[in-house]
Amino acid sequence: MNFIENTSPYWAEDVSICLREGENPAEYYGSINPPVIMSSLFTFPSYTDMSTRFHDIKKEYIYSRGRNPTVDFLERKLARLERGEYCKCTSSGMGAITATLYSLLSSGDHVLLVNNIYGPVIQYLEDAKRNNISFSYITDNFDMDFIESQIKPNTKMIYFESPATMTFKELHIKKLCELAKKKGIITVCDNTCTTPLFQKPITFGVDVVLHSLSKYIGGHSDLIGGALITSEAIYEKIYALGYLLQGSVMSAQDAILFIRGLRTLPTRLKQHEINAITVAEYLSAHPKVKKVNHPRCLGTFNQYGENYGTSGLFSFEIDTEDLKLVGKVLDRLKKFYFGVSWGGFESLALSPHFGKFDPVKNNGIPLSIIRLSIGLEDSNSLIEDLEQALSIL
Ligand SMILES: Cc1ncc(COP(=O)(O)O)c(C=O)c1O
Repeated sequence: MNFIENTSPYWAEDVSICLREGENPAEYYGSINPPVIMSSLFTFPSYTDMSTRFHDIKKEYIYSRGRNPTVDFLERKLARLERGEYCKCTSSGMGAITATLYSLLSSGDHVLLVNNIYGPVIQYLEDAKRNNISFSYITDNFDMDFIESQIKPNTKMIYFESPATMTFKELHIKKLCELAKKKGIITVCDNTCTTPLFQKPITFGVDVVLHSLSKYIGGHSDLIGGALITSEAIYEKIYALGYLLQGSVMSAQDAILFIRGLRTLPTRLKQHEINAITVAEYLSAHPKVKKVNHPRCLGTFNQYGENYGTSGLFSFEIDTEDLKLVGKVLDRLKKFYFGVSWGGFESLALSPHFGKFDPVKNNGIPLSIIRLSIGLEDSNSLIEDLEQALSIL
């Protein structure tokens, strides 16, 4: 596999957003990159001027916990890539997630989680029970009638990932949003896995899109950051509450590095996609591999006409009920690092159960699953490594 047809109707525009759009070197000495404005505060020519402008903290540069011009550059690019109105960047993906949940949920509200959800989101919602916020989740039946049957009179938000980052099951985002809109429920989608280049949830009706920028957008495993993209009305609420009051702020230095990440995102992502499909196809043909959870191997890729590509992340299951054996296979790998996170240049492998399988807390994730984040190495060397690791089965 060395060529994947690019199906995104947005591709040329997206590449321009990543590389050029909104940038005007003539405004900053001809510099090809935007300036890094390292200032905690911004000054005004007079107290009167300050007093007038102080009342629009969302629009003015006052203090970098609110707005910073370098961070603004990144926010404009991310908002455009997602085809949303506004973006706010945060110091981590969890910063964007908690700012959203804190701002949009109140005592008495219920959240419906659909698909496997990033664990700390569930932890946050567990803790929110003390504020009388409840949640429930659906991990495997995505039939719209079933989802509708799980909506309660107090359901305020449907929070989902598609594809989920362990099982890679996908949802029909447009249908889910239609259902939510009919019931007056806010939809929130974590779009970290496919990035805005390969899926644009806002175009299918999602209200808030969340990102951990620490993955593909940073791309080099050296940064932590997050973003939320939404409409003006929802942005205003999150900005005033969860963002300003919780204070998860991105620095100008990190913003310029994320802007650098965007420059190569289209090229990197395509290579991650090709490498991952090559490895996934090899695993699909392996006699000891029970299942490969990659949308192209599951035959679910673009089943709803909402995907333009797949990333380097997928998982596979071996034919065993022995978690120790899963650990042994992993320990034989030499070309993969063992670590959490994903989306960087390096290939990573893990079992999400970390040696202990808890059937109650497993969130629908099978025992024998191994998740791979396929990096930018030569895919044949990764295949050779997997071949020798799997030979113990
Ligand atoms: C799908 C997903 N969403 C959100 C996050 C949280 O992002 P961060 O680690 O930048 O806080 C992660 C982190 O691994 C993730 O995998």
